[in-house]
Amino acid sequence: MGMNRDMTPTSIIQPAPDRAAATQLKPGSKRATGAGEDVASASAAAGKPLFRIVTRQDFSAATYLLEVRHPLLALAARPGQFVIVQSHERGERIPLTIADFDRQKGTVTLVIQAVGKTTREMQRMCLEGTPLFALVGPMGHPTQIGEERKVVCVGGGLGVAPVFPQLRALKEKGVYVIGVIGFRSRSLIFWEERFRRYCDELILCTDDGSAGLKGFVTDGLKQALQKHPDVDKVIAIGPPVMMKACAEVTRPSKLKTLVSLNPIMVDGTGMCGGCRVSVGGKMKFACVDGPDFDAHEVDFNELMKRQRRFVEEEQRALNDWLDKCQIAQSAGQIEPVTTTTASSSAMTRRATQPQDPSA
Ligand SMILES: Cc1cc2nc3c(=O)[nH]c(=O)nc-3n(C[C@H](O)[C@H](O)[C@H](O)COP(=O)(O)OP(=O)(O)OC[C@H]3O[C@@H](n4cnc5c(N)ncnc54)[C@H](O)[C@@H]3O)c2cc1C
Ligand code: FES
Repeated sequence: MGMNRDMTPTSIIQPAPDRAAATQLKPGSKRATGAGEDVASASAAAGKPLFRIVTRQDFSAATYLLEVRHPLLALAARPGQFVIVQSHERGERIPLTIADFDRQKGTVTLVIQAVGKTTREMQRMCLEGTPLFALVGPMGHPTQIGEERKVVCVGGGLGVAPVFPQLRALKEKGVYVIGVIGFRSRSLIFWEERFRRYCDELILCTDDGSAGLKGFVTDGLKQALQKHPDVDKVIAIGPPVMMKACAEVTRPSKLKTLVSLNPIMVDGTGMCGGCRVSVGGKMKFACVDGPDFDAHEVDFNELMKRQRRFVEEEQRALNDWLDKCQIAQSAGQIEPVTTTTASSSAMTRRATQPQDPSA
């Protein structure tokens, strides 16, 4: 559950001037025609930059990619950093990892899993051609790339996306990179080709064995370490339980292992204390001290407990939003909301499609 306190950090932030930007109705309804374009022109006229979504891709029913134009951010972004996104004026701010950046195109890429109210709302609203209301970043410390010669990069589920920029940076530095990526089943796999392009070796795992090695990423990690006893670092990103399990694989050998923590963040500037984590017995704030930390020092049990502390409020927010969707749907303003709104195949959606109950 993110909060909606007012906050203007010193980093790059720019609101779009009209919430219609984020409120596209069904084609044919009053505000539908070219809403994104109208806002684009209004903003351009006002000299305000827009964070326009240039690509939208759906990897599965719950996971989608947004490539957003923001040349300054693309220039400043480093592997391991994140942004705070607000999709519309009344939306909550949520932290998302920079899954890729392209300095030539001036874009940053976000890969998002629709888990609750905001990420599901974004799944409906954030289409190709529409702008985001605000995009703050880059935030957090970039991942330190030192003198490693052989590194295993582990990505579990959605964690596949945030580990990618680190993996690519290592490869570009001449490091021998072994990728271990894991999904629940074949239908959820994304970016396999992208990983194959940059990895010297790739171990693909699925929980159900429908593709690659049957098992968890920890099985893939063990296999990689058995074959390469000279690995000097492991980077593991995914759900806390997965990162914790990876930490246990490398703990006996004291092999340096980095994880990227994702506690609940509010301001992202070290002031609210929301993202407090315990590392090596000391209190740290993931937004300003991290998000990368030494896996062997992290108190994962505390992290998981703190992540669950607003579940009731989160459920209520989701239910309220679904109720609003239901009303808007009955009034014929939006398409039906299903438990998962995206298509199960990779595809691109355009801004002329359905819309938003956030009004
Ligand atoms: C540094 C960082 C990077 C992240 N990168 C990504 C990413 O690349 N892609 C992605 O899909 N998700 C990412 N997340 C998690 C994402 O922020 C949450 O999934 C999102 O905020 C959930 O909001 P919601 O309203 O959809 O769901 P809710 O129902 O509000 O929450 C669902 C769960 O998400 C977590 N969560 C909720 N609010 C926040 C918050 N403000 N900050 C952090 N976690 C929260 C909680 O564990 C909660 O139980 C990242 C989190 C952090 C801290
Ligand atoms: S998000 Fe507030 S201190 Fe980190």
